[in-house]
Amino acid sequence: MKIGFIGKGKVAQALSAALKACHDVRFGVREPSEARQGSLSEVARWADVVILTTPWRVEAEVVAEIAPHVAGKPVIDATNPVAISPNGPGISADAQPSAAERLQASLPKSHVVKTFNQIGAEFMADASVLNIKPVMFAATDNEAAKKAVLSLVADAGFEAVDTGPLANARHLESLAMLWIWQAAKGPLGRNFGFALSHAQTKGIT
Ligand SMILES: NC(=O)c1ccc[n+]([C@@H]2O[C@H](COP(=O)([O-])OP(=O)(O)OC[C@H]3O[C@@H](n4cnc5c(N)ncnc54)[C@H](OP(=O)(O)O)[C@@H]3O)[C@@H](O)[C@H]2O)c1
Repeated sequence: MKIGFIGKGKVAQALSAALKACHDVRFGVREPSEARQGSLSEVARWADVVILTTPWRVEAEVVAEIAPHVAGKPVIDATNPVAISPNGPGISADAQPSAAERLQASLPKSHVVKTFNQIGAEFMADASVLNIKPVMFAATDNEAAKKAVLSLVADAGFEAVDTGPLANARHLESLAMLWIWQAAKGPLGRNFGFALSHAQTKGIT
């Protein structure tokens, strides 16, 4: 697939390292100067799947650039609407009900998928450095986008889990805040990812 990253920061570079073996990747940046870079609109037009890896606060600017080029396409929202308070990181009061649902409202012709937001960028380049395969949940309202993105998440080395409709992005953004809180203030620091533990026999009913 043609994967167009919007931004070329830590998340975009790490995920592209994981995905470039199986996919064609390009970066939409403000001042293209290297191979595989283009303007935001050029890369959005070229891509089959677009991955937003910009700060949440600049979403409106980014949407204005890409909106005409992403109709009918999956748009992965990897952003986290972080606000720092005296208690540590939390979800910005402006991001209600969730950043992803707001993005979907701004891109009504696209299929927004919330994923790739639940772990630090350092593990996106090579998830196999963790001792158990990390989980990555994905939430969206569109079945075709869900199928394509879950396959991409698996290609990036994660246990890809369907997490239902886009309204569940609220929970995925909260889950990310737990990771970010640990990274900033908790005993685990940045050196962990979430993983699933599966029952070996049928559970008690
Ligand atoms: N870092 C993590 O561990 C992590 C993990 C999961 C999710 N996230 C989320 O993923 C997103 C990206 O994080 P990151 O750590 O990769 O950030 P980053 O390293 O700071 O990269 C951000 C990218 O966005 C670009 N950008 C900033 N403002 C822009 C604008 N107005 N128009 C177009 N491009 C713009 C930057 O371009 P310039 O270089 O030109 O400024 C840069 O390429 C954030 O929403 C973050 O919350 C981060």
